[in-house]
Amino acid sequence: MEKDEKIKVLFVCLGNICRSPTADAVFKYQVINAGLENIILVDSAGTHAYHIGKPPDKRAQSTALSRGYKMHDLRARKVTSDDFITFDYILAMDHENLSILKQRCPAKATARIDLLMNYSRNNNAGDEVADPYFGGQDGFDMVLDMVEDACQGLLEHINSRKNSPPSS
Ligand code: 4NP
Repeated sequence: MEKDEKIKVLFVCLGNICRSPTADAVFKYQVINAGLENIILVDSAGTHAYHIGKPPDKRAQSTALSRGYKMHDLRARKVTSDDFITFDYILAMDHENLSILKQRCPAKATARIDLLMNYSRNNNAGDEVADPYFGGQDGFDMVLDMVEDACQGLLEHINSRKNSPPSS
């Protein structure tokens, strides 16, 4: 498969330093584990510019690393209008960021804009990955639990559809 034919997934939160880089690292790990790194491209971004150029929050990094996910090399960036054309899936962590994405989405956009948790395999988890930034360690643990679950569901969804015609 050519690079341009890759299925491209963008995870989005507010700052791109806690939730979406966690999803970025977890999903990349799952994609590589499944041998699909030549087929699926993964990235993350934020709806706000507060932390552009910064690495992920230390608490998010250490929580992820405790389960084997490395994210120290990621850097925060803001969603661009090109992202709506480049990516196939743009997945928001909560309703507020989903709403911002829909407002900024250009008419020619081709991306499927959705909540990440709509791909969860655990029906009890809720549909939002809550912002852990102003809270304690339990919030970061919860983010990782939810992201691991929903990313696995997303991988199964993409894997089951990757050989289907576009209309299916
Ligand atoms: P994130 O968390 O959206 O998961 O990266 C936040 C990071 C920073 C802020 C809020 C949420 N902030 O207000 O600076």
